[in-house]
Amino acid sequence: MENFWMKLGSVATLIVTLMLILTTMAEPGEGALHKVGGRSGWTEHANYTEWSTHERFSVGDWLYFVFNRQMYDVLEVNETSFESCNSQGFISNITRGGRDVFQLKEAKTYYFICSRGYCWGGMKVFVDVVVAPPAPTPSPSGAARSLASLSLVILPLIVTSLLSLKPTRCL
Ligand SMILES: *[C@@H]1O[C@H](CO)[C@@H](O)[C@H](O)[C@H]1NC(C)=O
Ligand SMILES: *[C@@H]1O[C@H](CO)[C@@H](O)[C@H](O)[C@H]1NC(C)=O
Ligand SMILES: *[C@@H]1O[C@H](CO)[C@@H](O)[C@H](O)[C@H]1NC(C)=O
Repeated sequence: MENFWMKLGSVATLIVTLMLILTTMAEPGEGALHKVGGRSGWTEHANYTEWSTHERFSVGDWLYFVFNRQMYDVLEVNETSFESCNSQGFISNITRGGRDVFQLKEAKTYYFICSRGYCWGGMKVFVDVVVAPPAPTPSPSGAARSLASLSLVILPLIVTSLLSLKPTRCL
């Protein structure tokens, strides 16, 4: 019977491990963080149109501006002001310490510029935000589905381990 308990022990370990994996997977996304300009950050030497067209922005994501705050700032503006590099009457000044985040809360196009003339040199960026694809949410039905798929994995394992015990029992 020693063999049986050992098998049972390893099956139990497996179940716990699988449950841990499933719990981690069910964790909803917190919203991705996009470092504006990639490695360059927020400077005069990046092409932000190039950068932004290669990113996918979903509602709830964050923009992360990394810059020298002695030189630059970040203003949220409307489309007209973006096109004309107008830093008067901006929507918000999101400049804090130079490592500043901004959450994209709506599915729309957001516009940002740097004031002090840097916008003319290309320090401007727009991001098209789309509604996030349906993510696995921790709803009761989702949990039930996880449990169902879990038993699909575990049941054969238990059967297999019980079957492999047969010779021992015959002795
Ligand atoms: C930036 O990249 C875009 C898209 O690739 C391109 O159309 C544009 O000419 C570039 N701008 C500069 C200043 O290089
Ligand atoms: C954009 O903002 C500027 C500056 O505040 C303002 O003059 C302009 O009317 C705004 N344009 C639109 C379309 O809201
Ligand atoms: C935005 O805020 C920063 C930090 O407070 C400041 O240095 C900068 O001048 C502000 N920009 C504008 C256009 O007001």
